[in-house]
Amino acid sequence: MRRVLTRLLKRQRGISALLVCIELAAAGALAQAAKPQLYMGVAWYPEQWPEAQWDQDLDLMQKAGINVVRIGEFAWSRMEPEEGHYDFDWLEHAVDIAAKHGIYTVLGTPTDAPPAWLTRKYPDVLRVDANGQRAEHGNRRQFSYASLRYRQLCRRIVAQMAERFGNNPNVIGWQIGNEYSEESFDPCTRQLFQQWLRTKYKTLQALNRAWTTYYWSQTYDQWDEIPMRPDHENPGLLLDYRRFVTSVWCSFQKDQLDVIRSHANPRQFITTNFGGLGWTDRFDHYAVAKDLDLASWDDYVGEGHLNPYRNGFINDLARGWKRKNFWVMETQPGFVNWAPISNSLDKGEVREMAWQDVGHGADCVAYWQWRSALNGQEQYHGSLVGPDGEPLPVYNEIRQVGDEFSKASTVLPGTSPVSEVALLHDYESRWAIDFQPHSTAYDQLSVFLDYYRPLRDLTQSVDVVSPYAPLNSYKVVAAPSLNIIDAALAHHLAEYVEQGGHLVLGPRSGMKNQFNALNTQRQPGPLVHVLGGRVEQFYALLNQAPVSGEWGSGEARIWAEMLSKLSPDAQVLMTYGASNGWLDHQPAVLTRAFGKGRITYIGALLDDNLMRACVRWLAQVDHLTPAFGTVPENVEVCPRENAERRVFILLNHGKEAAQVNLPRPMRDVLAGLIRSGQLSLPPHGVAVLEENLR
Ligand code: GLA
Repeated sequence: MRRVLTRLLKRQRGISALLVCIELAAAGALAQAAKPQLYMGVAWYPEQWPEAQWDQDLDLMQKAGINVVRIGEFAWSRMEPEEGHYDFDWLEHAVDIAAKHGIYTVLGTPTDAPPAWLTRKYPDVLRVDANGQRAEHGNRRQFSYASLRYRQLCRRIVAQMAERFGNNPNVIGWQIGNEYSEESFDPCTRQLFQQWLRTKYKTLQALNRAWTTYYWSQTYDQWDEIPMRPDHENPGLLLDYRRFVTSVWCSFQKDQLDVIRSHANPRQFITTNFGGLGWTDRFDHYAVAKDLDLASWDDYVGEGHLNPYRNGFINDLARGWKRKNFWVMETQPGFVNWAPISNSLDKGEVREMAWQDVGHGADCVAYWQWRSALNGQEQYHGSLVGPDGEPLPVYNEIRQVGDEFSKASTVLPGTSPVSEVALLHDYESRWAIDFQPHSTAYDQLSVFLDYYRPLRDLTQSVDVVSPYAPLNSYKVVAAPSLNIIDAALAHHLAEYVEQGGHLVLGPRSGMKNQFNALNTQRQPGPLVHVLGGRVEQFYALLNQAPVSGEWGSGEARIWAEMLSKLSPDAQVLMTYGASNGWLDHQPAVLTRAFGKGRITYIGALLDDNLMRACVRWLAQVDHLTPAFGTVPENVEVCPRENAERRVFILLNHGKEAAQVNLPRPMRDVLAGLIRSGQLSLPPHGVAVLEENLR
């Protein structure tokens, strides 16, 4: 505060002390008001604009209901114009003037785009791509994530920032870097990888054994013979390489986490914004999110329109990274600039998408960006105001979202989705399958969505978690493609079943061990004794294979496994019809009671109707109930609750109005009245309904 007063008096000579006190009070008042709330934010780049422009920008942001800005993540050249000379006054002024407008700040560390003087003086920090091409200045992400010198330079700038802003009452959080993405294949990183392997395996003998390197005479005699490549390699090496990449990002991040935490007030959360449309698997997000206070991701559609199941699933995946609410740190104000066709979302779709994010556990939705830089690689990207600083058409829709978030801030903070069912999502299994897909048609996101759609529609809330997460709160746990199951994971899953859970395994489960080597037992490997059956053979399908039984008749496509019963109490639920001869009349789905629970193995990718029938069967067997009750098609129910209340966010994703029957009287939070009976939702329609649980 003293520093603020000094700067204000210095900078604003002649302004009466009264005004200065008002400013301080505003800043302080904002800080005191920092209670849990629903945030709507925007990426703002004050460094790109004259300070005289900032007040007008912030006025318009405040009018739109924006209560948080993320700033700084690309401002290293402005913060440290030359090595060792720091200029943070402008940044502190931006934070303070934002606070005057009731807007908090999340500060980005600027390590995704180093300044020219840095890479000129320290060219060894530049990234080298898999083709040996060294990056240069003029874009971003030109640094090597493993460079020890770069990490030291990052620690230095972050320490300066944390010292200056770590106790600023209007800075509520930090974002480390921006969308961790590019690896580096420079010689130093390769040495680090070889060292990482040596630490893991201790001896070359152990590594050669784990990777079966007698195959193609790959046997390694020296650690420095081991290549570092992202593809077309021994599956054991590839899996270890992805684990190495994860460890480097964890270490890159921890450097900055430690520096911030050593200076900053612990009320300032630390996150990073995961990119790649949430689905990227360049590293294990569970591992990288572990040390963060909060997970956040950048939610873009790109070309096309909102896919409610995909967007819902990825938000549930994001919630699963730390198994708690998260932030959407970036989303599109209408359209992007990087898609093949960067079409705009339809009118009403931006609002619909924001509310779906919140319905799945987002506590902040922030738009990228406020205003396009006059030059730079993103001039065409959607924004809230135009080059003249005046609102664009989408501004009013986002303003409506801001108004509604403000109303919903009375009920939503502190609530989260609660689910009876979970999907197990494992980066290692995804990598193992993608290293050798065996069918280019085997798209793992589609496989997950095949399970997610019927489960979400029926239960209206699905968690997506790591296989190593605690599972006992779930009635059903489905693992669509848990390719890697080692003894430890098998024990965890078997225990869940024994204690009363229902584990549903999809195809390709249990094929590999922790070295990405084939399990010596047939699938599901170390869970064969629980299933009382196994996979005799897997088949990539050119044509669909008929399947029929308990769930009706339909088809398997893309992938089918011939199953066999080993235990008399295993039950065949579905059987193949005539197809390739091998599968004809063989079991396609087995189920078995085990301990207090049950295990089911679905040995094929089944068509939508059969998956819906499967979920109806699960609902019957495991007493699954929808949180709200049945709703018309295309209406999504998003429940969030805590001990006091349950809030249902209803969304109409359809093109026609939908009539929703309320199961009980509820308070319409946006309309401010009690509703009962029927509620009409227009296309893109949103309703926020509260029921008191006390
Ligand atoms: C990513 C980056 C942003 C911006 C947006 C544009 O999410 O984090 O800096 O480039 O894409 O969509």
